[in-house]
Formats: sequence, C-alpha cells, structure tokens
Amino acid sequence: MTSGLLEKRFKKSLGTYKANAVIQKNMANTLVDLLCGKEYSSVFEIGCGCGFLTKECTGRLVYKKYTANDIIPECFNQVRVYEPNMAFIIGNIENIDLQDKYDLIISNAVFQWLNNPEFVIKKLKGCLNSHGTLVFSSFGAKNFYEIKEIFGVGLDYPVYTETVKEEVFELEFPSLLELLRHIKSTGVNAVTDYTLTRNRLKDLEEKFIERYGKIKLTYNPIYVIKKEGE
Ligand SMILES: C[S@@+](CC[C@H](N)C(=O)[O-])C[C@H]1O[C@@H](n2cnc3c(N)ncnc32)[C@H](O)[C@@H]1O
Repeated sequence: MTSGLLEKRFKKSLGTYKANAVIQKNMANTLVDLLCGKEYSSVFEIGCGCGFLTKECTGRLVYKKYTANDIIPECFNQVRVYEPNMAFIIGNIENIDLQDKYDLIISNAVFQWLNNPEFVIKKLKGCLNSHGTLVFSSFGAKNFYEIKEIFGVGLDYPVYTETVKEEVFELEFPSLLELLRHIKSTGVNAVTDYTLTRNRLKDLEEKFIERYGKIKLTYNPIYVIKKEGE
C-alpha cells in the first residue's frame, strides 16, 4: 500500500480508533508485559497512532529519552500528553533516515502494514545500541481469515521466527454491517472500500452464518522479540 493511501485511511479513523480498537489496546499492554521491568536510556516507538502503546511505555518503563514516530503528523498531539519531553519523527518508517541509536525499539500493530518488513527489521536492528532490543506486535495467519474466505481479500501476514507469544481472539457482531463498521473504525478498511448493495450484504451475511454459524471476526496477535547482533 502507498504511504499516501495508508496515511489517508488512518487519518480518517483517528477519531474512532481509540473506542473500537479493543484488541490493539490489549496488545499494547501485553507487549510491555513482555519487557519485564528493564531500564532503557532511549526508546523509539514506531507508528504510535493515538497512543495505546505510548501510554503503556511511558507509564510502565524506566527510560531517559522517548522518541515516537508516525506517518500522520497529527499523532504528535495525541501522544505528547503521555510524555511532554518526547521527540517526534514524522514519516514512513520504510523510507525515513534514522540517525540515532536506541536501547529499545518498539511497535504495536503496525508491521502488518509494511511493504517490506524484513528490510525494515534489518534497518532497525542497525539502529540498536549493543544489547538493544527490537520488540513488536503484529498479526498471524489466522487474522481476519473470515474476511479472506468470504470476501477474498486481506493482508499477507509473514511468519516471524522470533515470535515469543501468539493469541487468538474472536469478536462477535449482531450483523455483517456492524462487523464492517468495526473494521473501518480501526483503520483496517481494505474490504469496506467496496460499495455493497443491500442485497449483496444480505448474501454475504448468509454465507457467514452458513460457514461459521454466526457473524464473527478472528484476531490473531503475535509478539516478536529480536536482539541486537542476533
Ligand atoms: C493500527 S494503528 C496502531 C497505533 C498504535 N501503535 C497503538 O498502539 O494503538 C497503526 C498506526 O501505524 C501508523 N503507520 C502505519 N504504517 C506506518 C509506517 N510505514 N510508518 C509509520 N507509521 C505507520 C498509522 O498511521 C497508524 O497510526
């Protein structure tokens, strides 16, 4: 996906993300649990969005300097409430030049949007201080599999060998329209770009019920830890 399109979609959902992205909020909490109370000189957060992870990190980690990044400039206002002294780098992590080194590079629910995650991981590992850690959450192959099966569209989720934890959550909805609204409100609106007529929606809803017995959506969070030099 192009930077412009990604920015447009996430900007649109910035107002609704906080109230609807319950799984991503839980993932931010779990990600910081995995760090078990270490101390860091410098922390760099990628794709901070409205700040679920920023809140967890700034509230629970011990650090000297915090730097956040997002492709959307407006995110700075959302996250600086958690750390008034933070630095902010605007831009697409796939393209921006990173000058500094960090003890911890961390990211929640962003890597699935990268065109070339392996390239970004290599670049980020080059920005770690010795004994530094890159830790991120993303999603595994079961994520939104219902959408892939019924609509035939979806993201490809790479397998990361350093996955330390995996979860599966199922969310149930009263209708397919509500499910699609949920997806749109969290910025993941690849499918909802379709214009669906009432009849088409009804057909697809019947397909859902026939196949799964209910209207539901599976989330498959994964957590990855990579150390400098590994
Ligand atoms: C699903 S939201 C996650 C937000 C936040 N990390 C959290 O804990 O809730 C994804 C965020 O990553 C940003 N993002 C997506 N791709 C990006 C990229 N290539 N570079 C920088 N930010 C990106 C989006 O603008 C959006 O704010």
